[in-house]
Amino acid sequence: MKVLFAAVFSLLLLSACTPETTTVPAFVEAEKYPGGQTTVAAEPFASFELPAANMPEQQKPDFHAGKALANQPWVKAPTVTTMRDGLGPLYNSRTCLMCHIKGGKGFVPDNSEIPMLSSLVRLSIPGQADQRQGVVPHPVYGDQIQGQSTSLAHQLRHALKSGEVAHDVPPEAYVFIDWQTTEFVYPDGHKVTLRQPQLRFEQLGYGPLGEDVLTSLRVAPPLHGVGLLELVKETDLQALADPQDQNNDGISGRINRVWDAEQQQTVTGRFGWKANKPSVKVQAAAAFNGDVGITTTLFPEQPCSLQQTACQQAPDGNDVQNVELADDLLELVANFSRNLAPVKRRKVNDAAVKQGRILFYQAGCQQCHQPSFVTTTSARNPHLGQQTIWPYTDLLLHDMGPGLADGRPDFLASGNEWRTAPLWGIGLQQQVNGSTALLHDGRATSIEQAIIWHGGEAGNSRQQFVSFDQAQRQALIEFVKSL
Ligand code: HEC
Ligand code: HEC
Repeated sequence: MKVLFAAVFSLLLLSACTPETTTVPAFVEAEKYPGGQTTVAAEPFASFELPAANMPEQQKPDFHAGKALANQPWVKAPTVTTMRDGLGPLYNSRTCLMCHIKGGKGFVPDNSEIPMLSSLVRLSIPGQADQRQGVVPHPVYGDQIQGQSTSLAHQLRHALKSGEVAHDVPPEAYVFIDWQTTEFVYPDGHKVTLRQPQLRFEQLGYGPLGEDVLTSLRVAPPLHGVGLLELVKETDLQALADPQDQNNDGISGRINRVWDAEQQQTVTGRFGWKANKPSVKVQAAAAFNGDVGITTTLFPEQPCSLQQTACQQAPDGNDVQNVELADDLLELVANFSRNLAPVKRRKVNDAAVKQGRILFYQAGCQQCHQPSFVTTTSARNPHLGQQTIWPYTDLLLHDMGPGLADGRPDFLASGNEWRTAPLWGIGLQQQVNGSTALLHDGRATSIEQAIIWHGGEAGNSRQQFVSFDQAQRQALIEFVKSL
């Protein structure tokens, strides 16, 4: 009864939250600079690959060295160059920036013929996860499908006759997406086509995946601003979190608690679509390991399960520290990522953008897409510290309803929960990356579609958007595009 009353009461509160009653904060000049003093110009052309505008000159050589390491294609070991061998044996991509295209987002294939190149499929099976892994990896395929291998037969696969297979280290599978489309109709009759991915695994290299396998398609998120997000104060996240929804606004917001392979302890998660990685460095090391097949002291094992014997036995590219990438080089790549800068906002004075800003708050988008933080100090990168930033994320997990659910828990994140995606730079993706692939699996090809997919805790906010007239919806989208 009490619960029911609370639910009804909160519904009343929500419906009372009509456009007329919401207070919209006054616009401040600082909003034009999403990364504070790190912000780079959008003219003459926008880029997600530029270093923080306030980076001291003496740090620039290291930034460019890190960029070279994130951009250079890794090759199979052994080779004459010891600096960049050790690829795979199983991997998804040869470089970081083949997925994080030009420092921005990846894409997902738009038709079922194109293989997956800048996105990946995470795997696990149900069960009690180890404190360090957060998921129960598939016993044969591990926690991610690697669609490529260093095997010559795979590398030459386009020259193979159909039916011939790679014999030495078979790739795990070729994954294709079949899109299921549905139509959404607004109350005013306007229609939007939505698509939802269905995964198709071909040429599984190590036997069937099994009935109970949990899969999750993930597109590579943009990298700009990750160093600033790393410096959002822990206390700010705790203040925003409301796991029991004590303020009864229908929005909980939870912190993911994840294993930090560097500090060897459980800490707050910030990165990845389910906030399952604690820091830029651990994320980079995990990517080197899982996506490129390059070992580091943080993840020293080759990406092969016990059953993948040819993979286990393939030559490695180990150098100093008995790993393929030494600590100082990993740090260069991590620090390159940390320093990729947010881009200045565009069109802030346009009438539609101004109106859209008001509607953004009236629809309650800022309840999760938290506009602003002041970063904490940083000993490593003092110029990234104490910046007023505008990422439009609370870095917290939210239940987004069954439409977006992957049913695959990760540390504390349930199968329905996702980290609020930052919105800074979103309007530049088409221009910089040549595609718009929004939401964790890239299903939304426009901001409008992304909003319509919102459900669960964001259901009320989505409903507000849907109830706006077309000009208002367009204005809200223009505002988001300007971020
Ligand atoms: C095969 C594609 C692929 C490659 C290669 C790749 N990434 Fe990623 N990256 C992703 C995906 C997908 C995610 C999201 C992961 C998740 O949700 O579990 C991600 C997440 C990240 C994030 C967190 C961003 C955020 O906002 O949460 C960082 C930082 C990152 N990658 C850095 C790197 C670095 C550095 C490299 C090279 C060592 C790299 N990535 C290689 C696909 C890739
Ligand atoms: C309850 C929290 C919540 C509310 C309220 C909310 N969002 Fe989101 N939003 C999220 C989460 C979580 C994601 C990531 C979902 C996913 O990837 O599946 C997201 C993703 C997005 C994306 C896609 C970003 C990307 O890079 O893929 C856009 C655009 C977006 N939201 C806009 C809005 C707008 C506009 C509103 C208000 C009408 C809104 N959101 C309200 C939580 C919220």
